[in-house]
Amino acid sequence: MAGPWITEHEKKTVVEMMECGWDNYDYVEKFEPAFAAWHDRKYCLMTSCCTHAIHLLLLSLGIEEGDEVIVPECTWTATAAPVTYQKATPVFADINHEDWCLDPQSVERKITGKTKAIIVVDLYGNMPAMDSLQVISKKYDIPLIEDAAEALGSKYKGIRAGKFGLGAVHSFHRTKTITTGEGGALLLDEGELYQRAKFLRDHGRSAEIPYHILEAAPKYMPSNLQASLGLAQFQRVCELVERKRYLLHRYKENLLDIEDLAFNVETDEVYNGAWATTIVFGKSHKMTKQKAIEKLAVLNVPARPFFYPLSSLPAYKHYKTGSREENPNAYDISSRGITLSCHYKLTDKQIDFMCEAVRKILGQ
Ligand SMILES: Cc1ncc(COP(=O)(O)O)c(C=O)c1O
Repeated sequence: MAGPWITEHEKKTVVEMMECGWDNYDYVEKFEPAFAAWHDRKYCLMTSCCTHAIHLLLLSLGIEEGDEVIVPECTWTATAAPVTYQKATPVFADINHEDWCLDPQSVERKITGKTKAIIVVDLYGNMPAMDSLQVISKKYDIPLIEDAAEALGSKYKGIRAGKFGLGAVHSFHRTKTITTGEGGALLLDEGELYQRAKFLRDHGRSAEIPYHILEAAPKYMPSNLQASLGLAQFQRVCELVERKRYLLHRYKENLLDIEDLAFNVETDEVYNGAWATTIVFGKSHKMTKQKAIEKLAVLNVPARPFFYPLSSLPAYKHYKTGSREENPNAYDISSRGITLSCHYKLTDKQIDFMCEAVRKILGQ
């Protein structure tokens, strides 16, 4: 389904680190400013994973018990779970048919006096209606956070995913466009927030007195080993994003003649980083994700379900902050969507084979 593209450059960089990189965080210190600059951000904090980057930001913003944080109904659990680490309540807003991302009108309906943040997700490399969401964030004075875990290389009106909101996060999970095995990053522009997050990332240590702990804070430091791989991968970021886009376009061109099939969104305003090719079957196909995955498996083609509506899952049901009635688009789109393999090593022949299988299960 997914796998990285590692070259001699990454291997050499990681070996160099292993030979002389155990006394400091010099690869982290090289990675962070370069990654921040690429996103036109002032600051970057690398973390042990993206989930931790989200938690670190919520913690730094002082989100606590009784607060509410609006998240999309359809996203990976990692967007919502850190809200619960703070004993705050995730509130699920609907997504749009056009971009599969947060629907600004639904967000506005979900705002209460307790809402302390809105986390918007760039789902499958798609970009949400950022202009409208930024207006809402300003109007209600609620910080917007961008979860760009799936959108490295995506752009909205020429602005890179990772530049939106008060803070944004990226993931370097083994399945992502650049990988450090596990890893993530928090991007920020405000100096005070950066200092607070940096302090909380490493056990709340005093900057003046060594080993003096001022607050019982988590430890979300990356290792120099992760950062060495991350730095080498990031030095190839344009090549990596181009390859992801190639895979998406090969799938799309192969299936171009099939009507009523939606892929990762690309418009005049949205440049898609194409982390993972995702298809939503139009209603005319009468194809559910479960049926598609089963039928494709018989043809030796792997596929993953579109993210489940979080409010339908055992982990989040009890919050009663989302439902099929409140978020009909999310329940509908999710029921008809699958993700196809986005492995870097896919050959054209393999993509063509998988497209033939999609064609077969749709009776085309
Ligand atoms: C939308 C979204 N947010 C957050 C994450 C969390 O990333 P990580 O696995 O690096 O913690 C992921 C990763 O799968 C994701 O897809």
